[in-house]
Amino acid sequence: MIPLYLPYRSPRQQDYLSDAQERGMLQGDGPYSRLVCQRLRELTGLLQILLTPSASHALELALWDLQPGDEVILPAYNFPSAANAVLRAGGKPVLCDIDPSTQNISPHKAETLINPRTRAICLTHYAGISCDMKAFWELQKAYGFLLVEDAAQGVGASYEEIPLGAAGDRACYSFHATKNVHCGEGGAYLQREDAESFEQMQMRRDKGTNRHQFLAGERARYTWECTGSSHLLSDLNAALLLAQLENLEEVTRQRLKLCAAYDTGLASAFARERLYPMGIPPYARGNGHLYYIRCRSPRQLQELQEALASRGIGCATHFVPLHLGSMGRALGYRQGDFPASEQTTETLLRLPLYHTLEQSQVNLVCETIEKVIG
Ligand SMILES: Cc1ncc(COP(=O)(O)O)c(C=O)c1O
Repeated sequence: MIPLYLPYRSPRQQDYLSDAQERGMLQGDGPYSRLVCQRLRELTGLLQILLTPSASHALELALWDLQPGDEVILPAYNFPSAANAVLRAGGKPVLCDIDPSTQNISPHKAETLINPRTRAICLTHYAGISCDMKAFWELQKAYGFLLVEDAAQGVGASYEEIPLGAAGDRACYSFHATKNVHCGEGGAYLQREDAESFEQMQMRRDKGTNRHQFLAGERARYTWECTGSSHLLSDLNAALLLAQLENLEEVTRQRLKLCAAYDTGLASAFARERLYPMGIPPYARGNGHLYYIRCRSPRQLQELQEALASRGIGCATHFVPLHLGSMGRALGYRQGDFPASEQTTETLLRLPLYHTLEQSQVNLVCETIEKVIG
């Protein structure tokens, strides 16, 4: 059996979890949370970071301040979190097709959707491969909007030398168990904007109160100041996350090595155009979050899925574009609206990738694929 993924286990995580329990400070923003934030500051160069229970919660914070009628452009080939965050805040998600060579939102198609109601563009760095940030920075300069990065899959990856999560105004990371480093369920909110909006964000995250000032000894009591919720990560999760983040470099290196092994094992299939490889533009430095292939047809994808499954090898397709679910239809979209997203859904297949996957297992996956495609 070769599963599609296995959650990473870090050598120190058990010790940190025991220590956190002994200290008994298990609520949010405890000692381990502070150390995790410090790590993330070192990783991104950003000062304004908050740990959240998930990337979805972080996206809710990022888009909390939308006004009724505000539009947010986001890719159709996407996880639903950003679209949910827009709707919860009273805004309108405006779906955009992807560039089929990267599966990331196309800047050219996004530009055609910009209008005076556009308040934000929310990019997703699919598979930890950066969007074309230069193109989006230029659009931002020309039209003025909030640039939000869904970097749920992008921890440890970068656009040229800029870490994903630090390339826009606001961003999220996910530390869900399927991510390169994780704490079961977890996330982070990151921003590079002015300190005033961060002050507000801290209150939104902690029940709409200025409790962070109380905890910092800046006031004797805390009070209810704005609408908010409870978007904090338990320090128990942060203890697990710290142990994982301490090994981020090693995890990334190992995953990239496995991706390179797949590239070698499938080189002949790619050269003969029996399959298509992941598209990685020169500006993107990946983190080995996913390894996928693009099939020539839905039929080929099905044959490969069946052959891999029959040998106990895990593999999976990925997002169903947002416009094809009930919510997308309720927003007025129809099948055929985003052809590149639909084609990616029908032809993209993810292969097993996790820290302890072995070269011999990669070889077996590649040999199985070779047999099917002939
Ligand atoms: C692009 C993207 N955004 C958001 C999420 C949601 O992450 P979380 O489960 O941490 O809320 C995911 C989860 O896989 C994702 O892939």
